[in-house]
Amino acid sequence: MTQAQLAQGTSPLLAVRDVSVVFGGIIALNGVSFNMHKGQILGLIGPNGAGKTTLFNCLSRLYQPSSGDILMEGVSILSRPPHRIAEIGIGRTFQNVALFPNLSVMDNVRVGAHSKTSSDIISDSLKLAWVRRSENDVNKKVHEILAYLDLEDVAHTTVSGLPFGTQKRVELARALAADPKILLLDEPAGGLNHEEVYVLGDLIRKIRDERHMTVLLVEHHMGLVMSIADHVVALNFGKKLAEGTPAQVQADPDVIKAYLGSKDQ
Ligand SMILES: Nc1ncnc2c1ncn2[C@@H]1O[C@H](COP(=O)(O)OP(=O)(O)O)[C@@H](O)[C@H]1O
Ligand SMILES: [Mg+2]
Repeated sequence: MTQAQLAQGTSPLLAVRDVSVVFGGIIALNGVSFNMHKGQILGLIGPNGAGKTTLFNCLSRLYQPSSGDILMEGVSILSRPPHRIAEIGIGRTFQNVALFPNLSVMDNVRVGAHSKTSSDIISDSLKLAWVRRSENDVNKKVHEILAYLDLEDVAHTTVSGLPFGTQKRVELARALAADPKILLLDEPAGGLNHEEVYVLGDLIRKIRDERHMTVLLVEHHMGLVMSIADHVVALNFGKKLAEGTPAQVQADPDVIKAYLGSKDQ
């Protein structure tokens, strides 16, 4: 999708409006605003400590902004607890894989599909209180997602025995099983090797294209973001430093300075 198409009049799927987060004396986010449009892969970048995870946690409702607002389809999400974001179509994965290690791949994905039912065995951020899916519908969904993410061969394998890269794909499968409108990914490339990052990039793009999803990709490293994002927002010290196409942001002098100045790049 081109920037021009995105700019054409449609209201944003998600709007972050002047969001600030203060922890004690630390300003983790300072008046950050941007829009996400349907079908977009939006990359949120910035050096360590820039505020990426803080913003991610505001979106997934683990943190409450000190000021500002976050609107999903024009409606504020700030009064919603974390266990009620899936029902409005916000799905997430975790920076460190948060699967049930002793359950099989299939059962982990089933938890995602069941998150459209109410149940107390699942974690708050996956729980959904909408229409109950029948057992049959859940099974169909689980099989469809396992096939889609090429996980059929390991469907009955216990998650703890799988390589890290595969575990990350299982987490993605679990998030997709709840049919989110927006998929929030916090550093999905963390801990993956070069080849795995490349495969992941293709997969995220495929999910966006084929499943009509909107993706917020939080990444510390620029490579993956620059290769798949349509739009990039760069943070530094809690403020928005730059926003635009990957090429625009990559060429921005302030962004270059922030990355050169950080020890971890
Ligand atoms: N729960 C918290 N309590 C206090 N300070 C925090 C908390 N979470 C993050 N911070 C601080 O907020 C700033 C932004 O952190 P974070 O959002 O984790 O950055 P990033 O994900 O970009 O590396 C940092 O200075 C960090 O130390
Ligand atoms: Mg982080």
